[in-house]
Amino acid sequence: MSTNPYHDDRGNKDRSITNPDGVGEIPTGHRGKAKPSPGGPFLIGENMTGGYGKGGPDILHDCTIAVDRGEIAVIVGPNGAGKSTAMKAVFGMLDLRQGAVRLDGEDITDLSPQARVGKGMGFVPQTQNIFTSMTVEENLEMGAFIRTDDITGTMEQVYDLFPILRDKRRQPAGELSGGQRQQVAVGRALMTQPKVLMLDEPTAGVSPIVMDELFDRIIEVARTGLPVLMVEQNARQALEIADKGYVLVQGANAHTGSGKELLADDEVRRSFLGG
Ligand SMILES: Nc1ncnc2c1ncn2[C@@H]1O[C@H](COP(=O)(O)OP(=O)(O)OP(=O)(O)O)[C@@H](O)[C@H]1O
Ligand SMILES: [Mg+2]
Repeated sequence: MSTNPYHDDRGNKDRSITNPDGVGEIPTGHRGKAKPSPGGPFLIGENMTGGYGKGGPDILHDCTIAVDRGEIAVIVGPNGAGKSTAMKAVFGMLDLRQGAVRLDGEDITDLSPQARVGKGMGFVPQTQNIFTSMTVEENLEMGAFIRTDDITGTMEQVYDLFPILRDKRRQPAGELSGGQRQQVAVGRALMTQPKVLMLDEPTAGVSPIVMDELFDRIIEVARTGLPVLMVEQNARQALEIADKGYVLVQGANAHTGSGKELLADDEVRRSFLGG
């Protein structure tokens, strides 16, 4: 089975995988009131242990990452720490040997990535997150592949959030700048009207100005009440906008706290933030 939901069943008309009550509104409004979900955070990968393939070594060791309603949660840590692996595990791209993934209290550990999209998960992977030969608009249409209703309203919301994409909607996405491509990738994930957005290094390879701009847009999305779980290499800047932060080292939780707490922690500063 392909692990990439966007490569399967593009014309799927199965209502069971659509999301009838996604968040919907992208740009305006204020941050949704944080309502604790019964039984823990809105999305949690809890005590996850596992690696790639059947006999592969464990990459994650009792690793927990989570995001609650109305929050931005940020995962930082050194290269190879397992940040992307943890995100893939939450999205169902890894067979966990131990641990569970729960969305809004429901155990989804055994669901395929595609079924998780149907449950309301939007995921932007670290690499290969757009179709470069397709136009911007075709990418957004592909993002909405599980929907059978009218997507034009959502597309307008994405264009309102990222106006440059409206101007470039007829251009192949591969011709766009790095920052614009990341906007396409985030926009594409928003096209399913997800209930939670997972971003793996949305600011990879962009200039500091473009990074600030992307962070502003991500905050704007989060303020509509859409929880955001994101991996970031720009640790300091990301923790500044994080309600909750996780430092992962060698596949395990090394430090967890509010963004403020982690920024103030001497050990975190010394080891991960350059002092
Ligand atoms: N598809 C794969 N198959 C086997 N091993 C993998 C695969 N992808 C990653 N790994 C291994 O898993 C470990 C964690 O990698 P991962 O990509 O999750 O780290 P990361 O924290 O996201 O790093 P980076 O900051 O570079 O993105 C590494 O040892 C890596 O070699
Ligand atoms: Mg990674």
